[in-house]
Amino acid sequence: MSRNEQFAKRRLMPGNVLITGASGGIGAAVARQCARPGVTLFLWGRNIERLQQTARTCELRGAVAHVRVLDLANAQQALTALREDDDLAPLDACIMAAGVPDIRPPDALTELPETVLHIAEVNFTTPVTLATEAARRMAERGAGRIVAIGSVAAFHDLPFATAYSGSKAGLLRFMTALHAAMKPHNVGVTIVSPGYIDTAMSRRLDGARPFLMSPEAAASRLLQAMRRRDAHVVFPKPFIIARLLEMVIPRPLVHAILRRARVEQRPLQS
Ligand SMILES: NC(=O)c1ccc[n+]([C@@H]2O[C@H](COP(=O)([O-])OP(=O)(O)OC[C@H]3O[C@@H](n4cnc5c(N)ncnc54)[C@H](OP(=O)(O)O)[C@@H]3O)[C@@H](O)[C@H]2O)c1
Repeated sequence: MSRNEQFAKRRLMPGNVLITGASGGIGAAVARQCARPGVTLFLWGRNIERLQQTARTCELRGAVAHVRVLDLANAQQALTALREDDDLAPLDACIMAAGVPDIRPPDALTELPETVLHIAEVNFTTPVTLATEAARRMAERGAGRIVAIGSVAAFHDLPFATAYSGSKAGLLRFMTALHAAMKPHNVGVTIVSPGYIDTAMSRRLDGARPFLMSPEAAASRLLQAMRRRDAHVVFPKPFIIARLLEMVIPRPLVHAILRRARVEQRPLQS
């Protein structure tokens, strides 16, 4: 058994971990929490400075960190990159944290089709492609963990964020189906659905962010769910209640309430 394998067994923490969205927010927090001697991290993102900053912090904690600049809008490139990383160091965990939001501009009838396409690629097409390849390779080796970050937006018909809520709903169903398929192969598949997390993404929203959690707290909940091999975890708890309420309230009424919600998004800061 290799040093990484012995370490992973002792700490219940995977040895070789791929993390998308490691240049910011929850993904960077997950990377920091995974970082320790014996762990090799493959950190993916687009912003090289922030990616290298995450890598430096992880290396100070004793991990080996490789960074990769990659746009997840290109699923084929992402698939090739995952195969390269997994060939270099067989992945014990593949954590897909990257995601993009969109809120329909107040004066627009719909979201832009180009934006909808981009969100579908980054939030759904690429994660499901990567998860499938990781699952196949891990199942052949007889072990592994795959995690995706969804959103509580998946539970609601958000008229002002049709692409975001739709892409996260698709991702949720895909991941729980993959969980069912992979259980007999000792591959844990988990999706977490967070509420508001205090990252660059939610800071763009104009308005209240109830039950706000830190990225560190979200990362710990994600890693706990991964270790337990949970299929689906929602946090913080009030969003579980919101989900249950929506199931019992008639849909036309829910839609009328949601149509009245005033949710706006500030432009992206680089
Ligand atoms: N924050 C919240 O309130 C909240 C709530 C529910 C769910 N989530 C989900 O949590 C996940 C992490 O979000 P966050 O809050 O940590 O947001 P964040 O701070 O904005 O980080 C998003 C990450 O995704 C990466 N990313 C975005 N587009 C990409 C692309 N086309 N190709 C490659 N990487 C890309 C970013 O990389 P670069 O910066 O390098 O481009 C960044 O590392 C997302 O899936 C999000 O939907 C967030």
